[in-house]
Amino acid sequence: MNQLTGAHIKEAAQYIQGKINITPEIGLIMGSGLGVLGDLIEDAVTIQYHDIPHFPVSTVEGHAGELLIGKLSGRNVVLMRGRFHMYEGYGPELTAFPVRVMKAIGAQSLLVTNAAGGINLDFASGNLMLISDHINFTGKNPLIGPNDNELGVRFPDMSEAYSKRLRSIAKEIAEAQGFSLQEGVYVGLLGPTYETPAEIRMLRQFGADAVGMSTVAEVIAARHAGLEVVGISCITNMAAGILDQPLSHDEVMETAEHVKSQFLNLVSALIAKM
Ligand code: HPA
Repeated sequence: MNQLTGAHIKEAAQYIQGKINITPEIGLIMGSGLGVLGDLIEDAVTIQYHDIPHFPVSTVEGHAGELLIGKLSGRNVVLMRGRFHMYEGYGPELTAFPVRVMKAIGAQSLLVTNAAGGINLDFASGNLMLISDHINFTGKNPLIGPNDNELGVRFPDMSEAYSKRLRSIAKEIAEAQGFSLQEGVYVGLLGPTYETPAEIRMLRQFGADAVGMSTVAEVIAARHAGLEVVGISCITNMAAGILDQPLSHDEVMETAEHVKSQFLNLVSALIAKM
């Protein structure tokens, strides 16, 4: 049940606002191995998650637990280095909480990134994929429970969860930077097991291009809050059963490290134009 209310959001927001003297306009959530973007923030104020009232604390290797606030590509941003996954045992409303706090301190748009397995056979490990849409296959939703009308409407529209405007900007940037940006549907599962080959075949038939264990709850909360959303998946591996090899978190981290510069170029140019 939804135990975090508007009062908890306000308390967390006030704590953060007490430590900064800018108003962040863009929220950034970085996936496994992609938190390096935080190093580019100028005059960053770093706040540990465990110091923020009611903030959950992330438990996965490759995910730090800190909020960075400062300037990136000329814009005021708030970046989550480390996110909360439902497989860690957090309820969906806890994964949504930081998004609501970002909104409460001023964010109007959200850029989410993640590591994902490639389902689309035209993809290759190391590709970046612009998320055109998602399938919430987690069986959970962060908006379950009484709706707080001050946060958003009871039945949010999800027909353009990932902003067409921001997607077209991202595509223009990739073209100008001279690399092919894949585009496709991200399916979010609970994890923490990687999928079976049979599950991957099923997901492909269902229209998914990439699979991961994050993002959907955050994006649902963001759309509920009226944030404009753009999402980029780093295809860190081909999904189970496609190549004749087992999947591992080490491979995910290695590929993320490998595409770092392309990822940083794309994302920092995108932030400038959001
Ligand atoms: N499946 C689910 N989540 C993932 C994967 C995958 O293959 N790769 C990175 N995150």
